[in-house]
Amino acid sequence: MISEAADRRLNTISRHLIVTNEDEGSNGVISSSITSSGGDSVFANVVRAPEDPILGVTVAYNKDPSPVKLNLGVGAYRTEEGKPLVLNVVRKAEMLLVNDRSRVKEYLPIVGLADFNKLSAQLILGADSPAIRDNRVTTVQCLSGTGSLRVGGEFLAKHYYQRTIYIPNPTWGNHTKIFALAGLSVKTYRYYDPVTRGLNIQGLLEDLGSAPSGSIVLLHACAHNPTGVDPTVEQWEQIRRLIRSKKLLPFFDSAYQGFASGSLDGDAQSVRMFVGDGGECFIAQSYAKNMGLYGERVGALSIVCGSADVASRVESQLKLVIRPMYSNPPIHGPSIVATILKDRNLYNEWTLELKAMADRIITMRKQLFDALRARGTPGDWSHIIKQIGMFTFTGLNTKQVNFMTKEYHIYMTSDGRISMAGLSSRTVPHLADAIHAAVTTVV
Ligand code: LMR
Repeated sequence: MISEAADRRLNTISRHLIVTNEDEGSNGVISSSITSSGGDSVFANVVRAPEDPILGVTVAYNKDPSPVKLNLGVGAYRTEEGKPLVLNVVRKAEMLLVNDRSRVKEYLPIVGLADFNKLSAQLILGADSPAIRDNRVTTVQCLSGTGSLRVGGEFLAKHYYQRTIYIPNPTWGNHTKIFALAGLSVKTYRYYDPVTRGLNIQGLLEDLGSAPSGSIVLLHACAHNPTGVDPTVEQWEQIRRLIRSKKLLPFFDSAYQGFASGSLDGDAQSVRMFVGDGGECFIAQSYAKNMGLYGERVGALSIVCGSADVASRVESQLKLVIRPMYSNPPIHGPSIVATILKDRNLYNEWTLELKAMADRIITMRKQLFDALRARGTPGDWSHIIKQIGMFTFTGLNTKQVNFMTKEYHIYMTSDGRISMAGLSSRTVPHLADAIHAAVTTVV
């Protein structure tokens, strides 16, 4: 479990990164002395870094010998048996790839696999998107969502006149570090209201309304991580109008398309509203969750531009960001995705498997809610069934989380987020017992 002290140290580092990047001319790297302090290494002064607040939960979980331990930290889908899932359709696509003797392992172009890029843009924007038809979209294959955000962030730091990005408070723990190290200055806008456990739409509109014109705004396309709170369609429309009238630049993080509602089109609605108005925007896509390709690191960055000519010049500059970073992206993961997306039968099979994952998560929400009600656990737990996507933002505080880890071997992030995808009918009672004990014994 991550200690509060470690958490505090991480926050200090994050703050330092933001401040460092605000300094003119800084390259965002924390400077360190290379003189030794009497040790036998030139690295003797290197300070031990804390574990990552999300991935570090798994490190702590792996060290726990308890047979009842439960990992609800990282957002990774598990079956009812608590096992990682490789989708059937992915296995089928891999068989097709292996059996195709014409396939080679040559380098991909800097921007990645052409078919994958085209199909990814269609998946998020819709096959009939006017922006695609007009060649106003450039899409480059990147290393999952994180890599797409980082490449987009570095492009913006180099070529865009505004260096400030507004991210929601709270947001996925990695966002701050990705954009700060890309060279942007990171600020937050109000998003979550802890009292209603819902969206603070007023605060959001006020904060974005007072952001300097041109500022970049990070939006979660659906299934907001960590809160599970999404704007309604009407609220998205309010946000869109404000962003366009203030000439802010939207940057969507789409990590859960199909996971929130079970519908690929439904979960792309927010993005399509913004592209539908003819304006420009950035979209980072990940196939980690919706195709279960976590470790394959498959993602795409699409930039919707004002004209085809601008899009092609933007793409030429993206290549200059990518080439010195990792040269060109890997071939296996995007080949799986392209094989599935271009075959009608495989695509349909994928949508069914995706819907089954989304439905299982929704069932877990109901079971946990019912289990807490059955125990008479103090508090209103209806947010568990109202929130959407992979996570529930429980409202449990860090002390309660630590208690649950120590006494019940339940692992989760210290902000009280639990991955619903890590739960099963078998483990719901154990979690409900732990939550009940935490809220009744730890203030
Ligand atoms: C999460 O939030 O748990 C996932 O997006 C995994 C990660 O990389 O943090």
